[in-house]
Amino acid sequence: MNQKILIVDDEAPIRGVLEELLSGENYECRTASNAYEALDQLQEFKPDLLISDIRMPVMDGVQLLNKAREVSPDIAVVMITAVMEIDIAVSILKQGASDYITKPFNLQDVVERVRSALQKRSEALAKKRYQDELEAQVKQRTEQLRLAFSEIEIHRNFTLEALVTALDAREHETQAHSLRVRDYSLALGQALGLDEESMDALGEGALLHDVGKIGISDTILLKKGPLTSDEWLEMQKHPEIGHQILSGINFLKRTVINIVLTHHEKFDGSGYPGKMGGVNIPLESRIFSVADALDAITSDRPYRAAKGYRDASQEIVRCQGKHFDPQVVEAFLTIQEDQWKEIRAKADRTKTEVGRSLPILNF
Ligand SMILES: [Fe+2]
Ligand SMILES: [Fe+2]
Repeated sequence: MNQKILIVDDEAPIRGVLEELLSGENYECRTASNAYEALDQLQEFKPDLLISDIRMPVMDGVQLLNKAREVSPDIAVVMITAVMEIDIAVSILKQGASDYITKPFNLQDVVERVRSALQKRSEALAKKRYQDELEAQVKQRTEQLRLAFSEIEIHRNFTLEALVTALDAREHETQAHSLRVRDYSLALGQALGLDEESMDALGEGALLHDVGKIGISDTILLKKGPLTSDEWLEMQKHPEIGHQILSGINFLKRTVINIVLTHHEKFDGSGYPGKMGGVNIPLESRIFSVADALDAITSDRPYRAAKGYRDASQEIVRCQGKHFDPQVVEAFLTIQEDQWKEIRAKADRTKTEVGRSLPILNF
């Protein structure tokens, strides 16, 4: 398709010469005798290049140049000026004209300048298209990457859930202890205004807290009666075993692994394995302790039936400042019984979903 040129000059002979010259060079040409006519043509004819005289009555060529670039920002513009208007020519180049021709003009020179202005325009357009394509490609790749990451994240969470559900099944049979304490901990973390990073670590740490029980023998872990003191010492190794197991996994954050190590520490320093106290225990673990107590009291155990939320609440308040961090207990009391029940039901539903992928466990 031929490239299109709009020729604007108030003098008919100049329009005529330029039209004849450029049509002879195989450009599709139209003419306009003033700037207003030219603006109409810009919309309708959509030229690739505009050649315009600067000195024209009513609206001059510089004003036309500015308006033309508003209508079609990519248009090439060559201005025609008399020799004494050279300073204007410099200023119009600054305003975005591609080139200028001085009157009286040499026809061969006009053809060359037009060709070069159109060439520059094509190059600029190709460059812009290339950049647009690159940008679109980057955007698309970024989106693909984001999707891939969220896919990995989903699989990773599911893998962890499946692992702890399988471990839980050994001790608690059909219970969803780890999933519940994860969700209880997250509710407490939210009430305490934890940031996203701590919330993520809290969720994973709570989910994995008892992973070390894999190293405790069935005779101790599943014993119906009370443990002997030796058995009890053996049982107390599970936070350290869990810590050791998880330390070898690169994708788990330090905080997650520390929660596993410190999940049986107590606020008054009477816990294990480190007998840490107060704020030396990571906040996430202090949160976990309250969640774990709530679940322990409200779940059936081989040696006793589950108690209600009210009993759990009383017991947690009774141990405020002893086993539990007082600020975590305060946060616990801001959450109502109904909300805890809802969280419990949700965790049980998750267990059912996870259980479907582990048919061997017969959930
Ligand atoms: Fe534990
Ligand atoms: Fe536990």
